[in-house]
Amino acid sequence: MPVPIRKAIFPVGGLGTRFLPATKSMPKEMLPVVDKPLIQYAVEEAREAGIEQFIFVTGRGKTAIEDHFDHAYELQTMLESRQRDEALAVVKATIPAPGQIAYTRQLEPLGLGHAVWCARNFVGMEPVAVLLADDLILGKTGCLKQMIEAYDDVGGNMVAVMEVPEEDISSYGVIAPGDVQDRLIEVRGLVEKPTAAEAPSNLAVVGRYILQPRVFEDLGRFERGAGGEIQLTDSLARQLGSAPFNGFRFDGRRFDCGSKVGFLEANIAYALDRDDMRDDVSRILKSFC
Ligand code: UTP
Repeated sequence: MPVPIRKAIFPVGGLGTRFLPATKSMPKEMLPVVDKPLIQYAVEEAREAGIEQFIFVTGRGKTAIEDHFDHAYELQTMLESRQRDEALAVVKATIPAPGQIAYTRQLEPLGLGHAVWCARNFVGMEPVAVLLADDLILGKTGCLKQMIEAYDDVGGNMVAVMEVPEEDISSYGVIAPGDVQDRLIEVRGLVEKPTAAEAPSNLAVVGRYILQPRVFEDLGRFERGAGGEIQLTDSLARQLGSAPFNGFRFDGRRFDCGSKVGFLEANIAYALDRDDMRDDVSRILKSFC
């Protein structure tokens, strides 16, 4: 059995320029889908998958994230005195056990690979999960839990993958697929942001990864890739052959909450998924059509 995954990295150091001006003073990861910030969905998904230590790689202007996962004494006292038990429980549910969360700063947003590398000292020599909060995945079982169940059989490096239309492929890391076994697809190659003509398949990497610690050595070489950024997928591609490497075709619907349309779509889907909102939201949507 491979070494179990106990830690997860949440890179939240990006600038979120596609959401300006909303993200001028508020982190993109605090944008709410219905009534919960994106980052809380990611943390809950990790917790469901058995993660015990949460490592945030933050940047300038991201203190709202730290506050979100802390006590809000004034608010809690107020809710308590007004006997707003339900609201109080919601507020308290976000707070992890002391010492479960660690924060480090990326200092400069040099790319996702660089953000992940910044967490290396918290990870040490064990495998780790990475979750991008702006990739929101709605499903019965969380994507990371599904991946870890598969990882327990095969070990190695793993990325979540999904089919994307040809016109979108150049926004993603794309795998060259090999043997397929159920939801696992052997990764034989990995290219970041290829043109449609260069893309080795239509299977794109989305924001869930399981990494073996060796990848940190490669990330530490700071090789620039697509867009002049230090790309996580490039370092992963250089790990090919050193450990099993699989794509995992997850069960669930993924929303690109880093884009405006994807974010709106997620809000609609999550609202329609809720018993307390479904009827009202359906009525509103019908009125627009
Ligand atoms: P994006 O590619 O969506 O970049 O990052 P961004 O800066 O957040 O947003 P835009 O494109 O300017 O609108 C994907 C994920 O990687 C993290 C982001 O926080 C996001 O979770 N990231 C990206 C970092 O932590 N550091 C970086 O240097 C770049």
